Amino acid sequence: MATAPSTIHVEILRQSTPDAAAVTERFAIPYRPNMNITSLLGEIALNPITADGAPTTPITYDSNCLEEICGSCAMLINGRARMACSTLVDTLIKEHPDKPISLAPLSKFPVVRDLAVDRAVLFQNLKVVKAWVPIDGTYDLGPGPRQFPQTQEARYPLSNCISCTICMEVCPQFSEDTNFVGAATIAQARLFNMDPAGSVLKEDRLRALAGEGGIQECGYAQNCVEACPKQLPLTEAISITGREVLLQQVKDLFTR
Ligand code: SF4
Ligand code: FES
Repeated sequence: MATAPSTIHVEILRQSTPDAAAVTERFAIPYRPNMNITSLLGEIALNPITADGAPTTPITYDSNCLEEICGSCAMLINGRARMACSTLVDTLIKEHPDKPISLAPLSKFPVVRDLAVDRAVLFQNLKVVKAWVPIDGTYDLGPGPRQFPQTQEARYPLSNCISCTICMEVCPQFSEDTNFVGAATIAQARLFNMDPAGSVLKEDRLRALAGEGGIQECGYAQNCVEACPKQLPLTEAISITGREVLLQQVKDLFTR
């Protein structure tokens, strides 16, 4: 970076309760190289004073792993859905040297407080498509069925989903009007449909994706695949699963 600033200016959209009005608070943080957004929020927690000198409370946000694995720290950073732990302050300064860094909660999920949102809808959707391998009991089931290396290779990228919900945040179809389950849920249905043990629930998953808020709501905007921090092949998973849902519907027409 050519010239590092001595102070980082940050604007944060805050909300003390789910129903409270949102307010913007401004902070001026001494610059240190190699900070990420999480460490910036940590600096505020150490000294919760606004840029005007008013005492305030530390910012509430979710975070856990600090290495883009747990998926909890997604938020709007300069208007774009990204992970706080992997977004570097130096990069943001380079992108917009003259603008303060803006932080806001994801816009499509209920705010719990400040930058923490309730993303339970993703986990409800994963239940709808039975995104798991069913096991019968807790006793030793022996080794699982073998997988072809080609199947493992196709499944591995889908297994990298960290449930951050960024794909849902950026999707124009993900709203209360459509109840669209979103790209992550479809990708996980594909992941478990390809599992030799998980595929026993494949028909249930495909039927669930044919229902309300299912795969037909996808408008192929492709925002999801561009925004996913783990580069999941979301559009490929959606188109393959879309074909399988259609085939399942035709099959059910003649056999049920
Ligand atoms: S598919 Fe990508 S963007 Fe969506 S929840 Fe998983 S990791 Fe996040
Ligand atoms: S803190 Fe776990 S993904 Fe950012």
